[in-house]
Amino acid sequence: MKIGVVGLGYIGLVTAAVLAEAGNRVVGVDIDKERVKTLSEGKSPIYEPELQEVMSANDEALSFSGNYASLKVCAAIFVCVPTPTIEGRIDLSFVIAASRGISFNNPGATTIIKSTVIPGTARMIHEEMRLNVVSNPEFTSEGSAIQDTRHPDRIVIGGYDTNIVEDIWRFTGAPMIVTTNENAELIKYASNAFLATKISFINEIANLCEKVPGTDVEVIAKGIGYDKRIAPYFLKAGLGFGGSCFPKDTEAFVSFAKTVGIELGITNSAIRINKDRVSHVLEIIKDALGELKGRSVAVLGLSFKNNTGDTRESKAWLLVEALMHHGCSVKTFDPIVKVSIPGALACDSIEKCIEDVDAIVVSTEWNEFKILENMKPKVPVVDAKRVLNQSQITRYHGVGLNEVKN
Ligand code: UDX
Repeated sequence: MKIGVVGLGYIGLVTAAVLAEAGNRVVGVDIDKERVKTLSEGKSPIYEPELQEVMSANDEALSFSGNYASLKVCAAIFVCVPTPTIEGRIDLSFVIAASRGISFNNPGATTIIKSTVIPGTARMIHEEMRLNVVSNPEFTSEGSAIQDTRHPDRIVIGGYDTNIVEDIWRFTGAPMIVTTNENAELIKYASNAFLATKISFINEIANLCEKVPGTDVEVIAKGIGYDKRIAPYFLKAGLGFGGSCFPKDTEAFVSFAKTVGIELGITNSAIRINKDRVSHVLEIIKDALGELKGRSVAVLGLSFKNNTGDTRESKAWLLVEALMHHGCSVKTFDPIVKVSIPGALACDSIEKCIEDVDAIVVSTEWNEFKILENMKPKVPVVDAKRVLNQSQITRYHGVGLNEVKN
């Protein structure tokens, strides 16, 4: 099948690569000329495990262009453009512009909206542009996006004329939920809000554990996670959720619900708890150091989570800024992110980063940081993501931990 993909960010590019691997010819379109040039040279502009390999192995089936006219040959076109928020409300302008581009160049193609959009968006585009619009939200995580796209838990498809989208994803063998556009659109928000709520729930329990001697949130999470009704996933306490999806999608969800007269109290609380995480970890660092002003701190990890170079809404990044704001000098290291935060000193190794500092903070769950267990630093180590084995660190301070040694 000839398939188009508009918007070549994490989701668009991974979708294009996996659909090429599945035997389709795929044309990717993006308005960013630099990105199209890099892709046309066969190079991935982003770090995502396996992406470069899948692109290289299927380069004959993949082509890239800055022009919507290249989509003329496609039977189905995925819309994978960003849906940012402006003052907490969704901004649909990129989705509308992409749909217009499709309606001018190939109105007969099925337009498949993968971007996260509020219920009613697909119907609005269908009514305004007379396109066959199918909703097909994605549930892939950065860092495992290729695997998630090849082997999804489920495929959600919403619309009237959905056969072509069912055909495209049949190779995955995943269960399909074929429903209305609005249900598909809402499933995506409900899913992200539920996962974000799990994270904020465990972070609230972490706050409690810190005040109750003899408790450890990691053990609590394990103890509740064995219950199949709860499940062990998304119960990792830490700096809170960041990234390009959860923070903006939970805000957009709450503001969408308001427009129909519903107050999403649980999601609102999840957002509020999440916003306090950086200042909470700052307090743990302050307790470990006595005071922040004039101290030097090494921060390990800048991306919003491990296995990605993405720093959008990264809590680690906010923590670095907060430390500097409170008078600390900060050194940073990240295995992938090589940019330096203005005012902080970016180091090219863990060794250099932790040299001559007063404290070390682990702020992203990269496995690489477990090397601290062998390095045995003498200064306090604040484990904001519970990556390390506390028994191997001399002066250990973990989120959600108030352990009394037996
Ligand atoms: C998320 C959803 O998982 C995915 O289904 C959706 O399509 C896009 O948004 P992603 O943002 O890539 O994916 O990362 P995810 O692994 O969900 O993590 C989001 C944030 O929550 C990260 O900052 C991560 O560190 C944090 N997190 C996750 C926790 O703090 N604890 C956890 O237990 C899980």
